Amino acid sequence: MIKILYLIIISLIIIICITDLSSKTNRPYDVARAEKLYIDQCSKCHRKNGTGIRRVYPPLKNADYIANNSVEELLRGMLFGRSGTIVVNGITYNGVMETEVDKTLSDYDIGLILTYVLWEFNDIQKIVTPADVQAARKAGKLPVHK
Ligand code: HEC
Repeated sequence: MIKILYLIIISLIIIICITDLSSKTNRPYDVARAEKLYIDQCSKCHRKNGTGIRRVYPPLKNADYIANNSVEELLRGMLFGRSGTIVVNGITYNGVMETEVDKTLSDYDIGLILTYVLWEFNDIQKIVTPADVQAARKAGKLPVHK
């Protein structure tokens, strides 16, 4: 009887471990590569955890700006830079983001970075594809926000 109880408890522990592991790795995109790219390309301003720096660099985490704007708008900012007044979560930023994304990155990698920002910082389950990046390239630079 005790043996069976032991077995049940051990199996339960194993099942819990497996489901926990898969919840972290169970992403339909390459989260490890995406995280590395994000840290390399964006974290010096928007910080590793996406919180930004109040009044200087807007947050990418739980940002109403990201929830309310299209993937194309976000990509155009990443590709060509953006400047002018922008309000994120009620705080006004008036900075300049140069063309921050490394020009040698592939469209796949650029899409991965935004996919990471959407999934890990904003709970938006959207995969940004190379086709999205190409469309944003065609649309060109964003006008300066007033
Ligand atoms: C050198 C600092 C710097 C780097 C590096 C940088 N940004 Fe920004 N980012 C800014 C600034 C400043 C603004 C606000 C621009 C304005 O006032 O119009 C901004 C705005 C944004 C916005 C729109 C506002 C918001 O919070 O949603 C997004 C999205 C964004 N950046 C994404 C990225 C991504 C993704 C990367 C990495 C590829 C990146 N940025 C790299 C400085 C930076």
